[in-house]
Amino acid sequence: MRALSGTQPSGKLHIGNYFGAIRQYVQLQQEHEGFYFIANYHALTTIRSAEEMRQQTLELAADYLALGLDPDRATLFLQSDVPEVTELAWVLSTVTPMGLLERCHAYKDKIAQGLPADHGLFAYPTLMAADILIYDSNLVPVGQDQKQHVEVTRDIGERFNSTYGQTLVIPEAYILKDTATVVGVDGQKMSKSYDNTICIFDPEKQVRKRIMSIVTDSTPLEDPKDPDNCSVYALCCLFADEAQKQEMAERYRAGGMGYGDAKKELFGCFMEYFGEARKRREQLAEDMGYVVDVLKQGAARARAVAQQTMERVRQACGVNIG
Ligand code: ADP
Ligand code: TRP
Repeated sequence: MRALSGTQPSGKLHIGNYFGAIRQYVQLQQEHEGFYFIANYHALTTIRSAEEMRQQTLELAADYLALGLDPDRATLFLQSDVPEVTELAWVLSTVTPMGLLERCHAYKDKIAQGLPADHGLFAYPTLMAADILIYDSNLVPVGQDQKQHVEVTRDIGERFNSTYGQTLVIPEAYILKDTATVVGVDGQKMSKSYDNTICIFDPEKQVRKRIMSIVTDSTPLEDPKDPDNCSVYALCCLFADEAQKQEMAERYRAGGMGYGDAKKELFGCFMEYFGEARKRREQLAEDMGYVVDVLKQGAARARAVAQQTMERVRQACGVNIG
């Protein structure tokens, strides 16, 4: 089985990205072949500064490595280092109905807000389908918000296969129920677009401040509280096993525990869980040459696979005459 996923270099990694997707990348690399890339072509739809693009791309690669992606087990690379992917995106776009893209949420939401959308945003799911299909991926670890895009990928892949014969491997989304949607400090889905994130590699002080700012209700300290309606509890659960979850839920229901105490516990759990990764991240910042090397080696491995798939695709649709 081959697992594949990508993340845009569009900002600092937060715990929604980690629990929703990156933790699964790290777990899957133990048993499956893993292809993980930085979706810089996708990020062109939002980042318009070359400097910002370069810097955030390298930082994201270092973040992946610090969080445990092992370049000896998994292939880490830049989307743009495999130009065949844009070639496949074109071919796929010729079997993609307009209606399918019109229903995709990134584009639909923008239009609903009355904002202008460019062709890149409209065609974004076709490029994502190419990312996935070009590596014969079987599993795509992502958070719930990307499920629709993986379904579109399956649809496009099946349309290609039914038009030209069995050529592309049809993948499946790999989404874990408990971490499909991580909540942000304001109670909405955690997302950099909502400025409600807790970032994994922010300075300790900033992390503490962010955690202390999580919105809670005004139940007085001594009163019983409902764990199932509390973002602090939901976030603590990410770090806890079943017994710890139950124990905390009981303390909520018993009353006498303030949200401030729960937030301090959450901060402690965060620091303990990410402590090692944060140290490794600091070390990597001193050796970005290593990060660049990992990306180059990853690109060579990824490109070799992509070229084979493109040969099959060209053959299937008759654009090669040799
Ligand atoms: P953001 O919403 O902050 O811009 P991205 O869209 O770049 O995040 O997402 C990168 C990966 O992290 C995707 O696989 C996405 O599904 C996952 N992800 C993002 N936010 C969350 C969340 N709040 N809960 C679970 N997974 C998430
Ligand atoms: N659309 C994804 C996001 O915004 C990033 C992405 C691009 C991706 N290509 C992919 C994810 C292929 C999984 C597989 O998070």
